[in-house]
Amino acid sequence: MKVDLIINASTIACCTEGEGAGIIREGYVAVKDGKITALGEGNAPGDIKGPGTRIIDASGKTVTPGLIDPHTHLVHGGSREKELPLKLKGVSYLEILKMGGGILSTVKSTRVASREELMAKSRKSLDRMLLHGTTTVEAKSGYGLDFDTEIKCLEVAAKLNASHPIDIVSTYMGAHAVPEEFRGNTQGYIDFMVKKVMPYVRENNLAEFMDVFCEEGVFSPEESRVIMQKGKEQGFKLKIHADEIIPLQGAELAGELGAVSAEHLLAASEAGIIAMAEAGVTAVLLPGTSFYLMLGKYAQARKMMDRGVRVALATDYNPGSCPTENLQAIMTFACFGMKMTPEEIIKGMTLNAAYALDRAGEIGSLQVGKKADIVVFDAPNLEYMVYHFGINHVDTVIKNGKIVVENGRILQ
Ligand code: NIG
Ligand code: FE
Repeated sequence: MKVDLIINASTIACCTEGEGAGIIREGYVAVKDGKITALGEGNAPGDIKGPGTRIIDASGKTVTPGLIDPHTHLVHGGSREKELPLKLKGVSYLEILKMGGGILSTVKSTRVASREELMAKSRKSLDRMLLHGTTTVEAKSGYGLDFDTEIKCLEVAAKLNASHPIDIVSTYMGAHAVPEEFRGNTQGYIDFMVKKVMPYVRENNLAEFMDVFCEEGVFSPEESRVIMQKGKEQGFKLKIHADEIIPLQGAELAGELGAVSAEHLLAASEAGIIAMAEAGVTAVLLPGTSFYLMLGKYAQARKMMDRGVRVALATDYNPGSCPTENLQAIMTFACFGMKMTPEEIIKGMTLNAAYALDRAGEIGSLQVGKKADIVVFDAPNLEYMVYHFGINHVDTVIKNGKIVVENGRILQ
């Protein structure tokens, strides 16, 4: 189905460069051949409409760019609701990991899952994301760790990218944990990734980015530096899970190596924040994870923005530290946990998230010439979406100029 014209929108958040979210009140957006061709205040000029024009009346509604989720662990087997009682007893995330739970338990479930099972489970998650307004998503591997399972997960993501309306940007994250077969031999695992897995992933075009979990008891800053340098030499763009729980100067490392983004950053230092600003590293903040890990602490979004860091937001969708596909829930956590304004929040899930995926030239804002990835929310303004929380406000989703969700349902 071809969309042509969205009219009467109460709010249009263009999410263009600069201060604020580029708000237009009472306006229109025109789309042709998968691209945005015009937008503005008031009524669309008469010559845009023709006999075959399809009109979406967005009276009382809010129009935004398609949401971009720049940090997820999409493809994995199993679930971890059984960790809930431990969490409630106060056992920490890193303690659960040390006990062989956490990431390593999902590694077991992912290794035994067939491709078909992983496809079906991940497709279901993508459907949920699309229904909640996400049109582009980053997907990290890192629940296989061995060669076959990492490749299996990356191939599943590639197949889904080709067959699902959502665009998937893949990241190789073998450095998510040291697998049991390499316990006590982190160096051996690093050599295995660098010499065996990374070249195969690049040669077969299975991931554009790579990521490392730089954390106490996982990969040290020194190990992370080596893995990232080797990755960069092989042509990967860099991401890093930095300063999530223990401050380890991960943000500084992201700046030093010119990473595209650094993620989590709850414990990032002042020097790390400045290093990121100077190197143009996008901060990907994950307030849903702060909430779900019961850390009682959120990343310092305000400080980062004041120091000139571009702040993006993501779900971190994964089975252990943030099991939700819903970016609208993250809007509320970002507002109440990090005191971000609704305009900063929508920018964090559109233009700034596009920067975190190195795609700001194509997606992330409503601008003439950009891809027509557009969401119509049944909410009169951005504030309402953040305020009326825990429900899905999506009415219509347009991907590449095609309606893919209508009246809150996926069109087949
Ligand atoms: O981003 N921090 C590391 N990785 C994930 C959690 C993975 C898991 O617990 O399964 C995260 O929070
Ligand atoms: Fe993560």
